[in-house]
Amino acid sequence: MDYSRIKEKLEKYDQLQLLRFYEELSEEEKEILLTEIDNIDFDLINGEEFIATDGDITPIEVMTLNEIAKSEEEFRSYGIEAIQNHKVAAVLLAGGQGTRLGIDGPKGALNVGLTKELYIFQCLVQNLMKVKEEAGTWLPLLIMTSDKNDKETRDFFEAHDYFGYNREYVNFFVQEMAPATDRNGKVYLEEKGHISLSPNGNGGWFVSMQKAGLLEKVKAMGVEWINIFAVDNVLQQIADPVFVGATLKSGQPIGAKVIRKAAPEEKVGVLCLKNGHPSIVEYYDLTEDMMVEKADNGELAYNFGVILNYLFKVKDLETIANQQLPLHIVNKKVPYIDDDGNYVKPEEPNGHKYENLVLDMIEMMSGCLGYEVVREKEFAPIKNMHGVDSLDSAREMLSNNGVEL
Ligand code: UTP
Repeated sequence: MDYSRIKEKLEKYDQLQLLRFYEELSEEEKEILLTEIDNIDFDLINGEEFIATDGDITPIEVMTLNEIAKSEEEFRSYGIEAIQNHKVAAVLLAGGQGTRLGIDGPKGALNVGLTKELYIFQCLVQNLMKVKEEAGTWLPLLIMTSDKNDKETRDFFEAHDYFGYNREYVNFFVQEMAPATDRNGKVYLEEKGHISLSPNGNGGWFVSMQKAGLLEKVKAMGVEWINIFAVDNVLQQIADPVFVGATLKSGQPIGAKVIRKAAPEEKVGVLCLKNGHPSIVEYYDLTEDMMVEKADNGELAYNFGVILNYLFKVKDLETIANQQLPLHIVNKKVPYIDDDGNYVKPEEPNGHKYENLVLDMIEMMSGCLGYEVVREKEFAPIKNMHGVDSLDSAREMLSNNGVEL
């Protein structure tokens, strides 16, 4: 690797700090560091940050629990038939680092059991297994990891015999990474000879899956719909036949599971329309008037929050695959090597990660079926150890749902 070319690149982007410890490295380490720097796309971190534009935000119709109940059996049999015809695959988004939880290793390997072992991955697989039992067909389960947890995730599934799932239907793929920086946009070193890289957000899942050859693989099996879901919701219902049936029957390119807001000011991303397209508006982008605005039926007009469980039509995903997703700059805890060469593991967010988010894919679609689910039965995210959306609250919800811990 040509040192002077790399140095020039760093000078151009004002990132020379990356060579601070260069002289201390062995020849081999020097080569690795230069290659890593060569691969950095500094334009990405200098890119324009996504700022929610004003757009014309209006409420979206959501299929409520009552409406679902009226057609439940019809939706269920339609969904089951689609699953039996191998039209549905599930994609588990497990590439995140779970920095708020602060554990090492894959989040899905967290044991939520109290008297026995019950891992997050296990809860998810067991939920999918219920659908397999009902349909009598295995569904492809694709698991997105990142370089940070890929091997551990695969080993974990292997060590637990895939929690009883048919391993022939399980595939892993690795998402892409982006450099992590301090708050001034300076890329951190994670070791003296390694730059700090972190997963580039959950929005890259479709492209990474395509690059791994898995899209072609599942399409060849007949897959036309993909249910993506977050790793940390232990009550997550995956490829839920009623949801599948309702979405397919609706003629929309996506279905989004939503929960009714607990209060107008609840901090959830709200499903709505923006300039006529489905969109998720963050709670801080809803004006106070909108927060309390009422619909004709007397309920809140912006009343439904998303839970990161979407059913996408593959054809429509393919048409947006080449479009650039907006860049989100997120405040996170980023371990780094300080000026004196010490490794620092911060307790509080100290830096920026650069992410594309799946919610931006929603806005690229022509329509969306919002599909209401019961929060107490389907939404127990584990973001923190204690408090709101935590291991503690998820344990309580699991046991309220009759899961033995
Ligand atoms: P979160 O936004 O909660 O991020 O991810 P996180 O990395 O898990 O946790 P924090 O914010 O650092 O505490 C929502 C879902 O998206 C996945 C996560 O694994 C989770 O299922 N995700 C997130 C990815 O697959 N890749 C990413 O780069 C980021």
